Amino acid sequence: MTNKPHSHAQWSSRIAFMLAAVGSSVGLGNIWKFPYMTGESGGGAFVLVYLVCILLIGLPILMSEWLLGRLGQKNPISTMNRIAGRLKRSKAWVLIGVGGILAAWLILSFYSVIGGWALAYIRYSATASFIGLDGEGVGALFNGLLGSPGLLLLWHSLFMILTIAIVAGGVSGGLERASKILMPALAVLLLVMVGYAATTGSFEAGLDYLFSPDFSKLTGEVALAAMGHAFFTLSLGMGIMMAYGSYLSDDVNIGRTALTVVILDTVIALAAGMAIFPVVFANGLDPAAGPGLIFQTLPLAFGNMSGGVLFGTLFFVLLVFAAWTSAISLLEPIVEWLEEKSPLNRLTSALVAGVATWILGIAALLSLNDWATLTLFGMPIFDLLDYVTSKIMLPLTGLATIVFVGWFMGRDEVRAQLNMNGMAFAWWRFSARFIAPIGVAIVFVYNLFH
Ligand code: PFF
Repeated sequence: MTNKPHSHAQWSSRIAFMLAAVGSSVGLGNIWKFPYMTGESGGGAFVLVYLVCILLIGLPILMSEWLLGRLGQKNPISTMNRIAGRLKRSKAWVLIGVGGILAAWLILSFYSVIGGWALAYIRYSATASFIGLDGEGVGALFNGLLGSPGLLLLWHSLFMILTIAIVAGGVSGGLERASKILMPALAVLLLVMVGYAATTGSFEAGLDYLFSPDFSKLTGEVALAAMGHAFFTLSLGMGIMMAYGSYLSDDVNIGRTALTVVILDTVIALAAGMAIFPVVFANGLDPAAGPGLIFQTLPLAFGNMSGGVLFGTLFFVLLVFAAWTSAISLLEPIVEWLEEKSPLNRLTSALVAGVATWILGIAALLSLNDWATLTLFGMPIFDLLDYVTSKIMLPLTGLATIVFVGWFMGRDEVRAQLNMNGMAFAWWRFSARFIAPIGVAIVFVYNLFH
């Protein structure tokens, strides 16, 4: 009994850690990006590769980032500097941290634009704009938003302000408390939506689409998309999880905790798919509609169910919340780094990083309308930002991370950090040294030549 206060402190910090990790990983990637990528890639084959990548590549890399963070006890750049220095390895490993910060900046710029869409949809839903809409109506509502640079700018700015405010003010205590209620609420609401899809949509067709892989659809590009998304959805390859690892206490079992986060993240994504595709098929919509998919299918459901105004509004509020906690985790490492490397204080660093992201976001949102024909490497800016980060930068930094842990760190040190027994550790090490790096490499090389 005497150690009760101590164990309570440990318990609450462990919960705080889980909330931060889940808050970062569960976001627009699960509810917005996963369904539309599945639809663009033709369904089950993408889902299967995604699940394999999550398990064989994502999980060991998540564990690697956490163990590096716990060992280094610093921000990602200093952590890599410190560990590589101690092990007498090249200082070039620091590039993992640098690449991560750059990727975080690029991702947040377009992430905030989509966060803005979700904000706009709170308003549409609360003002009953979905009521009575058919497939064409929801399409028109969405295209109206997309075609208006002014509206997009307004909502993108608001989302960015929300994000900067938390990172600048450090009022994360309240955010943590809110997360404890709002994240489970989001999960419950998603289940309600799955229930709705099961009773009124083409549920079987939806499930079939998600879970019966058509291997003729499995191209190198689909595999790359699925692998890139595994990194994106788990917030890997950005140093974010490494930064969080520095707050992990020694008695936390990294493997078990990582598995919990991975399962939660995956279940939420699959639930989003199960809520959306039955509605797509029941209403003759196009599963390959692209980034607008959830903004066109869910309103159709909300517009036709009883209590849809309330449900819809609540859903988009929770979606914004999930996006917000992820966005905060994207801005945080940039601000931390600025604060350390420049004379700026936290508030100014948050403003500088936030405004730099906001400006890049404006280029991204203009590429959805006025600048649609302006392309770089054959892609509009929005698509380019997504492509370069998810399909190139994250897998590369992730690959470097796991190669470092698998090949350049001592076996015993890694084993002590992971606290795993014989067989489990042997398996883990095998996947860290061979399966994960070779998997990433194959997908990369294949795409280079096709
Ligand atoms: N994992 C988040 C999502 O799925 O929405 C997005 C994200 C957050 C990606 C943080 C990367 C990151 F570092």
